[in-house]
Amino acid sequence: MNIKLSKKDLHTIDSDIELVVVKDLKKLEKSTQKLLKKISFDLKSFDTYFDASKNIFYVSSAKLKKEDLKLCFSSAIRNIKKLNIKSVKFDLIQNDKELKIDEIVEGLVLGAYEFTKYKSAKNKNKKMNITISTKNSKKNEEVLEKTLANTLAITSSVNMVRSIINTPPEDYFPATMANDAKNIASQNNLQCIIHGEEYLIKNGMNAMFNVGRASRHESQLIHLSYKPKEPKGKIVLVGKGLTYDSGGLSLKSGAGMVSMKCDKGGGSAVLGIMNTLKALSCEYEVHGIVGAVENMIGGDAYKPDDVLKAKNGKTIEVRNTDAEGRLVLADCLCYAQDEISDIDYIFDYATLTGACIVALGNETIGTMGHSDKLKQKMQKAADSSGELIGILPFNRYLPKQLKSGIADIVNSTPSRAAGSITAGLFLDNFVKKENKKKWLHLDIAGAAYSESPWGYHSFGGTGAGIRMTLDFIKNLKK
Ligand code: BES
Ligand code: ZN
Ligand code: ZN
Repeated sequence: MNIKLSKKDLHTIDSDIELVVVKDLKKLEKSTQKLLKKISFDLKSFDTYFDASKNIFYVSSAKLKKEDLKLCFSSAIRNIKKLNIKSVKFDLIQNDKELKIDEIVEGLVLGAYEFTKYKSAKNKNKKMNITISTKNSKKNEEVLEKTLANTLAITSSVNMVRSIINTPPEDYFPATMANDAKNIASQNNLQCIIHGEEYLIKNGMNAMFNVGRASRHESQLIHLSYKPKEPKGKIVLVGKGLTYDSGGLSLKSGAGMVSMKCDKGGGSAVLGIMNTLKALSCEYEVHGIVGAVENMIGGDAYKPDDVLKAKNGKTIEVRNTDAEGRLVLADCLCYAQDEISDIDYIFDYATLTGACIVALGNETIGTMGHSDKLKQKMQKAADSSGELIGILPFNRYLPKQLKSGIADIVNSTPSRAAGSITAGLFLDNFVKKENKKKWLHLDIAGAAYSESPWGYHSFGGTGAGIRMTLDFIKNLKK
């Protein structure tokens, strides 16, 4: 899809069809009003109708901003893709209102995404040219072009991450993730350090090392850094990159294992964010750390009953090898705080617990931390970017669930109660005192992947966490 802005009058732009957004029927010609009434065109549900005699494509939207507008353009492009056409044009002014370029483009790019790599029948008319007439816009042309470029940068990173998540585990393993990180680094002038298992062992990262022990794929610790001149502060992003989670010896059920390629969702989101910073001219130094590991079974697998010592010296009794993400993140959090000083914010992203889906559903990111102010700040970023978060509260009584008879803590609590929060509290053991209020744990178990399409997300990976974090960083300037 190629989206461009044009200063030309809409009527002088050459295109197969014109897109018209319908909020109020009265704003249309009498004959069109009649036609849409006749077919019971629904003004509320992003309904679409193509008038082939006039080459006009109608899409409805009850509101012309924010999520409604994104869903409107997502619905339009999905239905236009079914037609045999190559180009679309529309006016930035619809229903006498100037629409926002970023909302339109987000709806178009995210709505049009399909993962077809493994389909043998390829969609032939894929390339679509979209021209938006800005002739009557009140905004400065440069500002509009910049908004378009920024939105394309963000949405193409989201789509890249969706494709990473959707790629099957046979084709996407820790070394693939490390390779993607290297490519992202070279395209964005980032520093890229990759460590293998020898480094993990030498540096006491036994929690992470043990999770990947039974896999034929070597675990990879990925560290990307974006370092602008005179940065305004330092942000650290840590991601769970389980390229597959079979559960290990505490093996998942057949049905429970399906879709566990999504367990790299957190690490993938971190890669997606790192891939966008340069295009957005981010003024903060940002580090992206990903633990890329495959959790498998075999003669060399780590076991329930094992006691593992993490990088900060804490000992962990393994009671369930399927609670592996927190083991990987424990060492990655330690690595991040040992390697990077004067951190302003440290966020971790992980498809960590099924309990998060039970609590919040398949769309909402579970958000945990010690600072109410920081959680509220992230809530604002979620609201303005269109992502959904729900705050899950820590309390003074839950940490005792993590007590172990033999080690410092267990990796899996005896009861399922507050499973997402106890997982968050497990991670808290690996956050240094000085960083407690700077840390947020984002459980994207539900939001990262869904086989039932919702909103502008199609089957599979969603890219959860990317838009919200970039919005958070953007608003730090103010
Ligand atoms: N990767 C899973 C969590 C998950 C579940 C992600 C569903 C996406 C969809 C995680 O490693 C896991 O298995 N967690 C266990 C923890 C339990 C053993 C304490 C879970 O949620 O059951
Ligand atoms: Zn697991
Ligand atoms: Zn997992």
